[in-house]
Amino acid sequence: MNKIDEMTENEVKEVKETLCEYASMTEEALFKLLPETDCLQKSVIKAARYSLEAGGKRIRPALVMEFCRVCGGEPETALPVACAIEMMHTFSLIHDDLPCMDDDDMRRGKPSCHKAFGEAQAVLAGDALAILPFQIIAEAGLKKTLSENAALKITKLLAELSGMYGMIGGQTIDIECENKTPPEEVILEMYRMKTGALLEFCCKAGCIAAGADMRVQSFAGTFGQRLGLAFQIIDDILDITADEKLLGKPVGSDAASGKHTLAGLVGIEKARDMAQALTKKALDALSEFPDIGFLRGLAKMLLCRQY
Ligand code: IPE
Ligand code: IPE
Ligand code: MG
Ligand code: MG
Ligand code: MG
Repeated sequence: MNKIDEMTENEVKEVKETLCEYASMTEEALFKLLPETDCLQKSVIKAARYSLEAGGKRIRPALVMEFCRVCGGEPETALPVACAIEMMHTFSLIHDDLPCMDDDDMRRGKPSCHKAFGEAQAVLAGDALAILPFQIIAEAGLKKTLSENAALKITKLLAELSGMYGMIGGQTIDIECENKTPPEEVILEMYRMKTGALLEFCCKAGCIAAGADMRVQSFAGTFGQRLGLAFQIIDDILDITADEKLLGKPVGSDAASGKHTLAGLVGIEKARDMAQALTKKALDALSEFPDIGFLRGLAKMLLCRQY
């Protein structure tokens, strides 16, 4: 069996190029949706734009648009959804870094939002980036660039997977588990919610934007969930092993804030093996999808990423 994390130079180049194309599309649309305006509350816009502008890998928007494409839609149809999820994700990062959460001073290679703008502005910028996504999706439905039915379904899915039964639920378990030694099942459930849920959203929402049926959405969701678990396992390993400059956020943050991760529980080697197996299982869920070269490449690249 081929080792799943082995990629040829050409494969890596192609995945990076496509990721870059999706990132440029997203960034162009993203800042139009959040223009710098001269108003009394301009400080919150500035803080939100600061965190969005800092970059990041932009894998979530790429997943949304690619799933729309493999389901026969135009990637542009899903562009508002891609922007919406990047905002929701950025909200999760701004709040995750706050002193009352992980207390991290760096994010995406720059001072965290609360370091640059103060805690109150960071809380508000995060709040704003959690709400704007719903306006964007509703507007796409009203303008009919997205069908009204798709906009409605995507709105519900976003609320569900980013809320108490999704990302926020996972972040709650993460905080509850601080300075405790949770068993493997609890750690994996926390990952499923805090990280897997938003990736599940991306994959399913892309399918919905293209008008794909429930069965297709379900396979895409399974892919996103499993990819999310692998993604968080590698994120935890990077928190131990990465080069801080490259990572763009503090190394050793989990240990410093009493987080017990899978890598801490079973060791880095075994955790990496689990991430590989999960990535393979994630790709198995896509056996009925056509033209999954980019998705396969992206999943493999995320396994061997350095940041
Ligand atoms: C970081 O996500 C938070 C986790 C879910 C582990 P990313 O690693 O995708 O962060 P950016 O968007 O590239 O900064
Ligand atoms: C956070 O996990 C997942 C979120 C929902 C933000 P981490 O706390 O490990 O993410 P990083 O390492 O700070 O990006
Ligand atoms: Mg955290
Ligand atoms: Mg964190
Ligand atoms: Mg982390």
